[in-house]
Amino acid sequence: IEKVKIAIEDLKAGKLIIVADSPDRESEGDMIGLADFVKPENVNFMITHARGLLCVPMSKEFATRLNLEPMTKSHDAFNTAFTISTDVKTTTTGISAFDRAKTISQLANPTSQAQDFYHPGHIFPLVAKDNGVMQRTGHTEAAVDLAKIAGANPVSYICEVIKKDGTMARLKDLRPLAKKWHLNLITIHDLIEYRYMTEQDL
Ligand code: 5RP
Ligand code: CA
Ligand code: ZN
Repeated sequence: IEKVKIAIEDLKAGKLIIVADSPDRESEGDMIGLADFVKPENVNFMITHARGLLCVPMSKEFATRLNLEPMTKSHDAFNTAFTISTDVKTTTTGISAFDRAKTISQLANPTSQAQDFYHPGHIFPLVAKDNGVMQRTGHTEAAVDLAKIAGANPVSYICEVIKKDGTMARLKDLRPLAKKWHLNLITIHDLIEYRYMTEQDL
């Protein structure tokens, strides 16, 4: 619980953290940051060191307002709620760390509108379940729950950590990596416990 509190303070300070899901699920760790405080340096850090797919989890309300429709009718093994991809219209090619930070920032802006965005683009929004990790134990829900607990707009940016050899970093690999990168690490299980203990309605 203390670990989760510290992680939330990091996020509020604009830092990244690592969130690992259960070994019975994906058994992956994602770097997570809050979209309200996104910086091109952090996006660059994620794409350099985490090296997975950079996605932007958000609440259903935000996705609906921006007309972010589901990407497909079918779904993958983990039911990951991808919407159509996007770039904000103030970007050029959309892929640089600077352009991706611009898009992430505008996805979190409560005054932005559907017509501010192009489709397809280089950012992959994901839609979280309303009751977060209490409803689905994915990184999508963890990322949006953390944004809500931090009092920020319900939008985050995440990227899976892949090892140098190309395989996924498991918890035993993530602990030393987190130490090396000076990032705090929590698990989705920790976050569920935190929500039980604090009885927070999000
Ligand atoms: C998108 C993914 C990742 O696993 C990401 O963590 C979101 O998915 P989930 O909510 O299922 O964990 O597939 O790159
Ligand atoms: Ca996945
Ligand atoms: Zn995941």
